[in-house]
Order: sequence, then C-alpha cells, then structure tokens
Amino acid sequence: MNRPRHPGHTERNPTPGTPPRQRTLDTREKALNSNPTHQDTSADPTTGWWTEAVIYQIYPRSFADSDGDGVGDLPGITARLDHLTELGVDAVWLSPFYPSPQADAGYDVADYRDVDPLFGTLADADKLITESRARGLRVIVDLVPNHTSSAHRWFAAALAAAPGSPERDRYVFRDGKGPDGAQPPNDWQSVFGGPAWTRITEADGRPGQWYLHLFDTGQPDLNWDNPQVRAEFLDVLRFWLDRGVDGFRVDVAHGLIKQADLADWEEPQEILSGQTVDKPRPPMWDQDGVHEVYREWRALLDSYPGERVLVAEAWVEPAERLARYVRPDEMHQAFNFEFLLASWTAPAQYAVITRSLEATDAVGAPTTWVLSNHDVVRHASRLGLDTSAGRPNGVGIGDPQPDAALGLRRARAATLLMLALPGSAYLFQGEELGLPEHTTMPDEARQDPTWLRSGQTQRGRDGCRVPIPWEADAPSYGFGPTDASWLPQPPMWAEYALDRQRGTPGSTYELYRTALRLRREHGLGRGTLRWRETGDEVLAFDNAGLTVLTNFGPTPVPPPAGELVATSGPLDADSRVPADVTVWVRAS
Ligand code: NOJ
Ligand code: MG
Repeated sequence: MNRPRHPGHTERNPTPGTPPRQRTLDTREKALNSNPTHQDTSADPTTGWWTEAVIYQIYPRSFADSDGDGVGDLPGITARLDHLTELGVDAVWLSPFYPSPQADAGYDVADYRDVDPLFGTLADADKLITESRARGLRVIVDLVPNHTSSAHRWFAAALAAAPGSPERDRYVFRDGKGPDGAQPPNDWQSVFGGPAWTRITEADGRPGQWYLHLFDTGQPDLNWDNPQVRAEFLDVLRFWLDRGVDGFRVDVAHGLIKQADLADWEEPQEILSGQTVDKPRPPMWDQDGVHEVYREWRALLDSYPGERVLVAEAWVEPAERLARYVRPDEMHQAFNFEFLLASWTAPAQYAVITRSLEATDAVGAPTTWVLSNHDVVRHASRLGLDTSAGRPNGVGIGDPQPDAALGLRRARAATLLMLALPGSAYLFQGEELGLPEHTTMPDEARQDPTWLRSGQTQRGRDGCRVPIPWEADAPSYGFGPTDASWLPQPPMWAEYALDRQRGTPGSTYELYRTALRLRREHGLGRGTLRWRETGDEVLAFDNAGLTVLTNFGPTPVPPPAGELVATSGPLDADSRVPADVTVWVRAS
C-alpha cells in the first residue's frame, strides 16, 4: 500500500528536532490553581490546552455512588478524583446531572441551572469543579440545547397556552394532517424508534396539536428560530462559565435547526447525517443555520478569561462537513465518530486517520479521537463482534456474543494506536479497565428508552452504562457502599476491578497509565504524523520521536528498530509483533 507522507499537518511542529515542550502535572496544577479569572486569555487554536488533551468522560450515574442508593452521584465523583490524576488524563467531561425525570438518563433536562437531588446539590457541583481544578483537571459539562425535558417549565407553559401562542413557539408545535388533524405533521421518526411527533390534549380537553421530539416523547425539540431560546442558552452558558467550568460538550449539535418546511424524510431515522452515500441531507440534521448559533456562543466564551471550549457532538459525515463545526470562530472540537465507526483493518484505519487530520487541518482545528462513549457498544466488545451485518445498537441475551478475548486484544491495540495520534483523545469511564459491554443483561433491567420505543427490537445502550468496578471483593464492586446498582453488574466484573489491575504488569489499567505518561512526555498530542511504507495488513507512523506500529493481519511482523516502550500485548517467541497488537518504539 502506498502511504504518502501526510501532506498537511506539519505546521504544528515547525522545527523538526526541537524537543517537545515538557508539560508535567506540576505545571498543570500550578496553572489551574492560579485564580482562573487571571489566566492567559489567549485561546490559541494551535497551543490551547484542548488541542492535545486527553479528556475522560464521566457518566455520573455509573461512576461512583456515595450514598448507596445505587445511582452514582457528584460526591462519589469528587471522592474518586485521585483515580483520574493517577491515570494521567487532562480533563473530565461530565454527562448531565441536572434536574430531570430521567426519561433519557438525564439528557432530558428540566432545569439547566441546578443539580438533580439524585446526583447531589449545586454546592456538590461547585466542590467537584473546585477539587478537580485543584488537581489540574479541567472540567467540561454537558449542554443539551436541542430539546428540554417535558417537565421543563417552558413545556408546561406551552401545553397550558393556545396554539399559535408565544409559549408554543419556543417548541415545534404543528397541527396534524388529515380532516381531524389525527395524523402527525410529517413522517419523521424518533432516533429511539416510533414517530417523532406526539399529539397533546389541549387545555380544554380536546385532542390538539402535535409536538416534535427527535428523541423520546419526554424530550420536546426546541425552536431555535425563537430569540428567547437563543437568549436563554446564552444565559445558561454564563451560569456555568461563572461557576468556573472549562467548557461544554454540546449534545446533538447538528440537530438544533430543522429545514424550514419540515419536509418528509422517507429514509429510516438515524442520528448520523452521512453524505457518504448519494442522497440529500436529512431535513433534521446538519442544517447550515446551526453554525450561526455556535458563532454566538464562541464569542461569549471568548469574552471569558481562561481557555473555555465547546465540543460538538455532531454525528456528521464526511469529515469535511464535520470540520465546519470547528472553524476558527465556532467550536473548538468535534467528536470524530467516523474514527469510532471505522473497521479494524489497516486500509480503513489509514483512510480515516488521514481524512480526519486533513479535514481538521484545513480549518486549523485539532483532530479528536474517540473509541467509546455512553451511546455505543464498548470497544472491548465491539471489536470482538462480527459487524459485517452492521453495527448493533446494543447486544443482549440471544444475540450473537462477542469474542471477549479478541475484543479486548483489539481494544488495547486500538487504544494504543489512538493515544499515539496527534490531537485530542476522549476516553469513556471504564475503558481503562478493559471493561466489556454487559452483553447478557436481562431485558427486564433495561432502562434505555430505545428498547421499548423500538418495539423491543433494539437493545439500546444500557450495556455500556453499567456501574464500573473499583474493588473486586466489595459490595457493588466498590461502586457504592451497598449492593445497589441501577443496572445489574455482571458476575465477572471482579476480574476487571481497579484493585486487581493497579500495579499488575500487563493489565489494561497499567497499559493506559504507561501510554498516557509517554504521550505526555513525548508531546504526542502536538506532534506530527508521518506514515511509513508498510504492507496491506500493517500500519506504521512516526510521531514526536516514537514509531508506532499496529499489526492488523495474522502474520507476525518485526517491530521497528529502537527501544520498545509500550506494547498492547506480548510479542511472540521471536520478538515479533503478532496479530492485533500495537507497539511504540523509541528511536535509540
Ligand atoms: C446524545 C446523547 O449522547 C445521548 O445519550 C442522548 O440520548 C441523545 N443525545 C439525546 O439527548
Ligand atoms: Mg447515589
């Protein structure tokens, strides 16, 4: 395979041979401990902290439970922050903890300026932010602007008010089709299954208008053409910026603006707006109008001291289209789901890495990398599945089960490859333990609305959201002080527990620690990738003084010359790199 040297992406390391700037935990601590209102205000797109950060996603329900009610909470997170500094990440992103009926695990927000009692109090959030920053960890919170909860005061007001009222105009209400208005206004489907419209009963008791919800019925979509909606979210941003957060992960960032005519869309609903196939852009995703919103937000963030960032959750393909979200006056980063979705083959990985770097280079933004999050099958299981029939939305009893050993082996290789790439990387809690998906969860235990809304055809996302194991022999594996756990933990969780892996050579946890330490020492995140020529089943590149090689094929290959500093699995008896192993080698 001819792998040309990557054409762009050289400007970030203009003087080859210059040793990378050392950035130790101590300097980070000092920086974050200083008064945040007097930090450097220059958000330089080439050197800002986020350009090379490793950001750890905390899913609060499932990280650590302080009060034993079986649901993780903010004090639980604060008590476990030392784990994150020991692991060596730069920042945390917290999934929603706001007041919510929990129709979609908190992505249905009833009040954007408070904390749900399930997770603690606003004072607990303040403490978590302060304690994180005192340890040199930046904090990103989740912002959910596409929809509110149906329990939000605005939605209650909309239901109480008449059709055509200003209260209704903050959402997407329409009359139904047909003589009695009994048919939904268009054919859109919810991402979770079933229609994207629900009919309401008017205040006088008559069947009334319909409202749009691209997700659950408990998540009515907001109308982003309404100035009150725009003003409200600017104020919500200010609320959290004033509390000291370092940024926002923006939920469904590609969904806020809908095509004005709400035209029918005959295709099956997906959250992904792909342009890889030859069909028009869906009328609900990636409309050009969203960019104006983010420009306004960016101006607000830039008016704050410190380097505050916006991260787009935008399921948009191809990479060039996604890059529009990270133009210089918009967001700072966008999740690279094309990387997450890419197959585990050398050509596919080469293509996605190259395209990702080129697309973000073209707009001067850092590239990001991600393999797991709370919406997809964990990569330790995904990479052990035969995905030729498509990517499953969850795995359950009766489904083809992953090959756990193969999945973990590939996951470790994939992670070591990812952490060697220039740019910023996202980790999902538990992946540092090599945690698999819970693929045999009893269906009665499932909580993701996807399972019921899809008519029990899509298992959904519960399997990646199971509370994580800290101590092998403790109740709930140390998740909390009791056995309670909002989703059942599988019996073999003990072998993945942190206390079994910490200090154990070759454990997944120690692999992550080593990789994160070397990544920092070598400045891999701000380096420059140069491909090496290889055969069709191997990828190899140089970055910041390391050579990285992944063997995707069955035939063992010799490692590059130099000192082996990290390997995702043992070399074979002849010191060659076997199938599904990544190595990092330092030129000696
Ligand atoms: C994306 C979130 O990651 C997911 O968990 C949620 O269900 C949808 N957005 C709707 O908010
Ligand atoms: Mg709790």
